[in-house]
Parts: sequence; structure tokens; C-alpha cells
Amino acid sequence: MSNDQASRLRQLAQGVPHEAPLFAARVVAITSGKGGVGKTNVVAGLALALSQQGQRVVVMDADFGLANLDILLGLSPKYTLEHVLKGEKVLEEILLDGPSGIRIIPASSGVQEMTRIDTLAELRLVQGLQRVAETADWLLIDTAAGIHDSVLRLLMAAQEVILVTTPEPTSLVDAYAMVKVLHLREPAKPLWLLVNNGQNPEEAEETVEQLQAAVARFLGKQLQVLGMIPGDPHVLQAVRQQRGVVDLFPHCPASLAFQSLANQLLRRVSLQPDGFATFWRQLASGDPH
Ligand SMILES: Nc1ncnc2c1ncn2[C@@H]1O[C@H](COP(=O)(O)OP(=O)(O)OP(=O)(O)O)[C@@H](O)[C@H]1O
Ligand SMILES: [Mg+2]
Repeated sequence: MSNDQASRLRQLAQGVPHEAPLFAARVVAITSGKGGVGKTNVVAGLALALSQQGQRVVVMDADFGLANLDILLGLSPKYTLEHVLKGEKVLEEILLDGPSGIRIIPASSGVQEMTRIDTLAELRLVQGLQRVAETADWLLIDTAAGIHDSVLRLLMAAQEVILVTTPEPTSLVDAYAMVKVLHLREPAKPLWLLVNNGQNPEEAEETVEQLQAAVARFLGKQLQVLGMIPGDPHVLQAVRQQRGVVDLFPHCPASLAFQSLANQLLRRVSLQPDGFATFWRQLASGDPH
């Protein structure tokens, strides 16, 4: 975004009331250093588990390169974020009803990068998001993997960030790199660690310890541990059937873990009085610092 565009958005963002309504959603972005570690499955799993606890959940697919949240849940969106960005639809018109009452904001693959979205398009998006968030308890954002500006902006704007890693050394190294970048930009940002696809609890525990040790030693920081989702063949079966594993196999190990993690989120992520307004302002500020 050019300086011009950024300053215009900042001016507009100043119009956001400082006292946001208390029913504003908690905004949680789910990310990873390395791709393919299970982010989209984690987003779907947490969304379904939260919804089954009576929470109103909206999930946004912000992976503009390779959108696939809708495919994972067996939905075929007619309209996507691309239509909102072009001004052809408002956000409410592209919302899809998913399983267990969750609502999905679909992206379409191959859309221009967030970085190349112009000011007006971004305004349409953030204003739409603000309206939708007022009807939700949670806005979960599925991001693309890696350290790109467009992803970082979403992560900076979100109230909380869940970093997904697997126990594989490559995933761990990339997770550390992501923690470092986020920490340098915003040391106080709550960062939750989720270990996915571990073979057993010991392996997942070791992964947490290794990452915590590196983060403490080199960044003087401590990650909050959200928990672990075990590697579970039911996940792949559910993907093949384009159903959420929590819906299809509610008692399998992965689903039980999603339910327990959803409880953790409910207990530990508090509603910030200014949560969504902050999201709006930070997104509109256009610069990940
Ligand atoms: N807990 C798990 N147990 C077994 N398989 C899993 C688990 N989590 C994810 N997978 C499998 O890993 C693969 C990648 O998952 P997913 O698409 O959610 O990753 P991603 O991080 O969103 O990828 P991308 O970076 O491409 O967006 C899928 O085939 C999925 O079925
Ligand atoms: Mg994904």
C-alpha cells in the first residue's frame, strides 16, 4: 500500500468509536511458518468445536493464494472475497452457512495479494468485517503460511495469534522464524502454540520444549501453550469426505483434542472491550510496523 493510501485509511479508521460494543468478536488468526502443517484443519476443527459449545463463529479464509477452507467443508461458494474487494457484493452476501451453524467467508484461489488490494477495496473488506463481527463471538482467520507482508498485517491486526507447528524439524525452524518476526514487531502480542500431527504426547511435548527453549534463549519470550492435536487417520478420512472431523467422528482422538482446545480458548481468551476496533484500526493502518 502506498503512503497515500495508508494515510487515507488511517484517517477513516479514526472514525471508529473508541468504545467498541462488548459483543465484538474475539479475532484469532491461525498461522504457521511452514505450509501444510494443518492450519486449515485446525481452523475448521476449532470453529466446529466452539460452535458446538454455543458460540457464534465466523471463519475467514484469508489464504488468497490457495483458498481451500470451503473445499475442506464441502461447500461451493458462488461468490467470494474477490467479489467484495471488487465492490460487486457486500460481505454479508458472500457469507456461507457451514456445518454446526458456523459461517464462512470464502476466498477464491489466485486472487490478487492483500498487499495489492487498493484502498477502497480494503475499506469494503474491513467495514464488512466489522459488521459481521458484531454478530459473532469469534472470528477465526485462516492465513497463508509464511512471512509475507499481507499475512503479517492480518496477524498484527488480530487480537490473538495461534501458531501451528508439527514436530518435524523443518516446521519447528520455520515456526521459530515466525515467532521472531512477530516478536520484533509486537512483543506483547499474545501468541499461542499448537502442536499438530504429533505421533504421541511425548513427541508433542518435546516440540513445545524445544521451541520454548529457543524462544526464551534468543528472544527472552515465553509462548503460551494452547495444546496439541494428535496425528489421527480420522482427519484424513474426514478431508476425503469433505466433512469436519469434529462433526463426522466426534469421539476420535483429534476431535476430542479440538473440543479440549476450544475449552481452553473459551477459558483463556478474554473479550477485549476494544478488540474489534483495534483489529479495524490496525488493518487500516496498512503497515505491519
Ligand atoms: N492431526 C492430523 N492428523 C492427521 N492428518 C492431518 C492432521 N492435521 C492435518 N493433517 C493432514 O495434513 C494435510 C495438510 O493439512 P492442511 O491443509 O490443514 O494444512 P495447511 O497448513 O492449511 O496447509 P497450507 O499451508 O497449504 O494452507 C492434510 O492432508 C490433512 O488431512
Ligand atoms: Mg491451509
